Amino acid sequence: MSIFYIDSVAAVKPAQLAGFFVGWPNPPSAATHLKILQNSDEVILALDSSTGQVVGFMNALSDGVLMAYLPLLEVLPEYQDRGIGTELIRRMLSRLEKLYAVDVVCDEDLVGFYERFNFKSGRGMMLRDYHNQSGKK
Ligand SMILES: CC(C)(COP(=O)(O)OP(=O)(O)OC[C@H]1O[C@@H](n2cnc3c(N)ncnc32)[C@H](O)[C@@H]1OP(=O)(O)O)[C@@H](O)C(=O)NCCC(=O)NCCS
Repeated sequence: MSIFYIDSVAAVKPAQLAGFFVGWPNPPSAATHLKILQNSDEVILALDSSTGQVVGFMNALSDGVLMAYLPLLEVLPEYQDRGIGTELIRRMLSRLEKLYAVDVVCDEDLVGFYERFNFKSGRGMMLRDYHNQSGKK
């Protein structure tokens, strides 16, 4: 299996984005997923060269001066545990290396994963409206 990485969605079609948002009760469609990526300040995508499918992605929202937030990181289940998530984060942090703060919100079981990249735990506050989870409005 050969994986390659890109940092633009200019040539990506919705059909290449199948299978993401595993476990989300109200997931965005592939077309909405593409819009999310197009509207992001930074994206890194992992593609399987044998299928042309996107198998992992990460995005960042940033003011470009001090701060960035990392909203989404996902590797398709059948491609996990092969270092793809690590490479997505490594490439994203490299793109954001001039910033003061890079923040992510994650579940407890991901704390150890992010600590590998020097993230420190802190208290965060969140608002969620699950009616809007698919982004369809
Ligand atoms: C988290 C995720 C992106 C990691 O991607 P991946 O390609 O499997 O990651 P890697 O192969 O680079 O794994 C790196 C290491 O992290 C570990 N790891 C993966 N998920 C972990 C978790 N939830 N908690 C702790 N460690 C984890 C792996 O076991 C691996 O360890 P190893 O190097 O000792 O073998 C992937 O599991 C995923 O998409 N999960 C579902 C979506 C999700 O939770 N996204 C994060 C939102 S904040």
